[in-house]
Amino acid sequence: MLNKEIQKALNEQVSVEAQASYNYLAMASWCDKSGLQGAAKFLYRQSDEERQHMLKLFKYINESGGHASTPGIKQAQADYKSIGQVFELALNQEMDNTRCINSLAEICLKYKDYSSFNFLQWFISEQHEEEMLFRSILDKIRIIGNEEKGLFWIDKEIGGIEVKG
Ligand code: FEO
Repeated sequence: MLNKEIQKALNEQVSVEAQASYNYLAMASWCDKSGLQGAAKFLYRQSDEERQHMLKLFKYINESGGHASTPGIKQAQADYKSIGQVFELALNQEMDNTRCINSLAEICLKYKDYSSFNFLQWFISEQHEEEMLFRSILDKIRIIGNEEKGLFWIDKEIGGIEVKG
């Protein structure tokens, strides 16, 4: 049976993942309408991934005797200055998400809920991978540049990234 405080914190994380999914959807839409189909493809996929993360938490809460609640979502930012800004915001979002997962893990340890702590290990590795991925994209944007020809190449690069499920 989930401790009430852990249930609350897990439900808050459901919101964080759902918000991330919608933020990526808005970023994908902006890239799509800006002719950046490679980046749009990547961000639509990221949006789907975040929804999967949300569902993973959602199901865990219910399977553990808790009650998962549907999250409230804030309107996502619709316009961006550049592809560089999109990926800077994306990296910041991932770093915030890592902090949330870490504090969730601390709450589990505080209440000696080792089962939830163990469940969260998947998210801890996932955050490591995602931060690394977004940092590598930002590095590419800095090297190639995001103007004129550079923009074409960076979009092609991002569109070609294979992400493991
Ligand atoms: Fe669900 Fe990008 O972390």
